[in-house]
Amino acid sequence: MNILQWHEVGASDDLEEEDVMEFEHEGALYAIYHTPTGFYASAGVCTHETARLAQGLVFGEIIECPMHMGRFHIPTGAAKGAPVCVNLAVHPVKVEGGRLFIGLATD
Ligand code: FES
Repeated sequence: MNILQWHEVGASDDLEEEDVMEFEHEGALYAIYHTPTGFYASAGVCTHETARLAQGLVFGEIIECPMHMGRFHIPTGAAKGAPVCVNLAVHPVKVEGGRLFIGLATD
């Protein structure tokens, strides 16, 4: 059974609106976003090739990949612009006491 475990990413104030940061856990990379509609998290590597999305640009609820400018909708992970066609995995986030957490499923 999968259980959601919360992992602290940092202070929510440190991630400015329309910015993205990287978080690593057990060898996997995640991207944590602050958009005008709140905080979100996704897989940290683009589904097209191997670009790290934390090096991309956030426009509203869109992350633009730094390598070939593919675009994803941050809240849903939906692929939005060529050359990306595979959606990103998304993960829950929460803010508690000014700290930001990502929820990751364990086996
Ligand atoms: S690696 Fe992201 S669009 Fe190509």
